[in-house]
Amino acid sequence: MKKSISGFSKLSKRKKLRWIVENFFKDPESVMRELMSYWHTNEDQQRILDGFSENTISNYYLPYGVAPNFIINSKTYCVPMVTEESSVVAAASSAAKFWSVRGGFTATVINTKKVGQIHFIWSGNYQRLQQVFDELKNRLCKEVEHITHNMRKRGGGILDITLLDMRHLDDDYYQLKVDFETCDSMGANFINSVLETFGQTLKAFVEEHPDIPENEKDLEVIMAILSNYTPECLVRCSVTCPVSDLGDFSDNMDANAFATKFCRAIKIARVDAYRAATHNKGIFNGVDAVVMATANDFRAVEACGHTYAARDGQYRSLSYCSVENGVFKFWLDLPLALGTVGGLTKLHPMARRSLELLGNPSAQELMKIVAATGLAQNFAAIKSLITTGIQQGHMKMHLLNILNHLGATEQEKKISTIYFEDKVVSFTAVQHYLDGLRTKKKSVSS
Ligand code: MEV
Repeated sequence: MKKSISGFSKLSKRKKLRWIVENFFKDPESVMRELMSYWHTNEDQQRILDGFSENTISNYYLPYGVAPNFIINSKTYCVPMVTEESSVVAAASSAAKFWSVRGGFTATVINTKKVGQIHFIWSGNYQRLQQVFDELKNRLCKEVEHITHNMRKRGGGILDITLLDMRHLDDDYYQLKVDFETCDSMGANFINSVLETFGQTLKAFVEEHPDIPENEKDLEVIMAILSNYTPECLVRCSVTCPVSDLGDFSDNMDANAFATKFCRAIKIARVDAYRAATHNKGIFNGVDAVVMATANDFRAVEACGHTYAARDGQYRSLSYCSVENGVFKFWLDLPLALGTVGGLTKLHPMARRSLELLGNPSAQELMKIVAATGLAQNFAAIKSLITTGIQQGHMKMHLLNILNHLGATEQEKKISTIYFEDKVVSFTAVQHYLDGLRTKKKSVSS
């Protein structure tokens, strides 16, 4: 066994895979065949996928589903969702359908501002830097004109640059905070290119400026990078209807009781961090699935959403609910930095199709679709939790997964589904039941 290697990245894909299977698997030939079976049959498509990352040896498949009947601002969408979690797409679809006959989702983009930071250390006189700051700003913008040219033509670019005194947090610590508008792109590459140039310009400006004395020339740029926290790149999405239109629910729960219990559940997630984490996870079940389907950066979206959820010092629910004058209202505020051009959005073949399925939306329209999917997911989860519980729906899918894993026939699936309707589903229980079925069948036929 040779578990480390030098020059791995230089090997061909086939040789990489060969080395992996021979050193980490008990049955190299069959694992090699299996991992190669996930290679794309079209070499050009495979080359595109391999181009996204390094040291690729195969492709990792995830289910690509759709949730139809999403009415958002009076427009109907069929929303693409990539998720490995059973019940997520079913839940989004059922909430979309529920709200489609109650006015649909209303979504508004509140702002689209992105943020970048240059963190630097300087022991000079702050007032002196403030005095020459306008001059610095002009020079910063001028020296990135070649980078911002296209973005400015599209209506975006640098919105503002501010100098922040951060010395209350660390010795000699300052920031340049830069606000950006990146139009239909998520903008990470654009922002980082601008910021890295800004870092060099800032250092040179201080070194060269005649008003800054020799003993204050030494400015150290620690780092120049976008912030994934974009509280002002924000969308609000809501659903609302008269309480009486909510209908009746299981166990004789009427609309009033449902609305009251629903609001109570949301309030719990606003005041209790343990519940808020699970509550928001449910929102991101929907959000991430669309973000993935459109090849947007789900890590960035998650990091931002969770930071926003803790913006007042306590981690809280991202959604809100009210019942006032007989009207039920449920809404979500979500910061979302998304793109519909650039990045992988048009390079990944499935992301391109997702965007086409959504009617090639702008980034702002995609923000609304993603927020609506998050709100739908949240509505479905809370509706289940306060009525039947979530296990009923989950277990149906879980049972099917286990049956598929055990190679059950369609007939076996049908019989097992009926049998497990009122029983606890576990892998062992299903295996045991299926073994019993098969033994019975054998003894009948012999
Ligand atoms: C499961 O993936 C998500 C839920 O736990 C969310 C929630 O509890 O609100 C059902």
